[in-house]
Amino acid sequence: MISVTRRYRFPAAHVLRSRALSDAENVSLYGQCANPSGHGHNYGLEVCVAGERDPRTGWIVPPEACDEIVRTRILDRFDHRLLNDDPLFRDLVPTAENIAIAVYRELAAPLGKAGSGRLARVGIIETPRNRFDYEETP
Ligand code: NI
Repeated sequence: MISVTRRYRFPAAHVLRSRALSDAENVSLYGQCANPSGHGHNYGLEVCVAGERDPRTGWIVPPEACDEIVRTRILDRFDHRLLNDDPLFRDLVPTAENIAIAVYRELAAPLGKAGSGRLARVGIIETPRNRFDYEETP
């Protein structure tokens, strides 16, 4: 098995706030991250596709096809947006963990069709001190 990891970036804002909790509970749990005005991150995104090469091309996934899928499904959608407004996070607090899982689920099917590999892992780099990885075993 071989894998390729491509890196992307999208600036976006979020508020860590659960509709199921009161204002006081949200502040107690999430602190300043619950501030309703939100705050931004320059998110890093890593997309890892693993599998076997297509013998015709030598690639697991054509890089331009991967970029197009990530751009249309994720980057254009999240860029300079408040993530809480996206339907993906209607009932889900947009923590980096939940962002990684949501991105994985958006990308898995199209990336599986784009080449000979499968989406192996999605990484979200939220700050220089935090990275979050989600993977599903086949
Ligand atoms: Ni944050």
